[in-house]
Amino acid sequence: MGSTSPESDVELHTDEALLDPYPRYKTLRKQGAAVWLTQYNMFALSRYKDVREALGSPKIFSSSKGIALNDRVNEALSGPHSGGTLCSDAPRHDILRKIIEKPLTPKALAQLRERITTEAEKHVEKLVAKKSFDVATELSQHLPVTIVSELVGLPEEGRERMLDWAPASFDCFGPINQRMKTALPVLEGMTKYVSQQCVLGKLKQGGWAAMLWEAVDRGEIDPEDCLHLMNDYLVPSLDTTIFATTSAIWLFAKHPEQWDIVRKNPSLIPQAINEAVRLESPIQGFSRVVTQDHEIEGVTLPKGSRALVLYASANRDEQKWDNPEEFNVHNDARGHMGFGFGDHQCVGNNLARLEMRALLAALAKRVKRFELGTVERGLNNMLRGIAKCEVTVH
Ligand code: HEM
Repeated sequence: MGSTSPESDVELHTDEALLDPYPRYKTLRKQGAAVWLTQYNMFALSRYKDVREALGSPKIFSSSKGIALNDRVNEALSGPHSGGTLCSDAPRHDILRKIIEKPLTPKALAQLRERITTEAEKHVEKLVAKKSFDVATELSQHLPVTIVSELVGLPEEGRERMLDWAPASFDCFGPINQRMKTALPVLEGMTKYVSQQCVLGKLKQGGWAAMLWEAVDRGEIDPEDCLHLMNDYLVPSLDTTIFATTSAIWLFAKHPEQWDIVRKNPSLIPQAINEAVRLESPIQGFSRVVTQDHEIEGVTLPKGSRALVLYASANRDEQKWDNPEEFNVHNDARGHMGFGFGDHQCVGNNLARLEMRALLAALAKRVKRFELGTVERGLNNMLRGIAKCEVTVH
């Protein structure tokens, strides 16, 4: 399989590769449109054009056999009622997505805007008064943990554990390495918790999770679908946003001239968020299964083969972006793949943007400079982000 394509034995999930994946992506982009990864037994799509085309063609690049990089997890995500929105194709996907997106539409979020903005202002005021703090834990976690986890509405113990479950789930989506093996029992704990605790009577009334059961009552989904759909709120709603927020502040700390631009003109904040997510995409890539023989630039991807779709590489493709390695808030990065594209484009992106905008706007009013202290990356099979980012603010 893949014998006519360029081949690579690159490993993308060692500590070293996770710390600096970008040179590896660059080599893959140079090698070809579709490169056979001998260490993964799948193709890599690393160029912007091909990533966008694959994500825009869900009938050919299917999610319903899982989007992970190992068979064990993909099999678990492939049952008729498994996998939730992330791991399904139309028509099931469209039914599930309509249910999951109800509290996340711009109209629904308009009701949350004031609460999020007020909370961001209050929290930033407190941190700025402290002068020195860890962006990763003290700043970026606050809104996802206090507001989003409450809106999801799990029983108390679950709310506390969401921050363990999300990164473990993303680790399990990776290849079978030590990180994946360590995370597997945590994921199993989450699955057990969901089946025992995420039931009516235990969930917060009116919360997003409880709303899924209302869809069961209306006959739109089966109870089994409902349990899997819980994962769509539990797994991608916290760490993605936390990592994106920390990366944005880290970039501004490293590029004070960009922070000056935003402070003078806060209307550039939405554009700056796109630019930060482009440059430091929290989700680096997911896989798809090819449903029919499909040719990309002379390489045939056979029916049934798997392709790793590298959003983060597309976001630094020199064929698409001028100066792709540069952080520039004047860049129009709207077409980036950091929130995906097409049918599976991130359903929570408006919420993530709202949270990030509120924090950056509150900081822009109060902080002239971020002085970086200790910075440590958090290593995860599928996520890129910083686990510790100490700053002193001036
Ligand atoms: C900066 C923060 C975030 C980033 C970078 C991000 C990234 C992504 C990406 C790349 C996808 C596409 C997956 C694919 O192509 O298969 C996605 C899908 C998804 N995201 Fe996000 N996400 C973020 C925040 C959120 C939040 C806050 C929520 C929930 C409240 C959320 C829920 C989802 C769900 C449910 C899907 C699956 C949608 C579907 O398959 O139709 N995400 N996200």
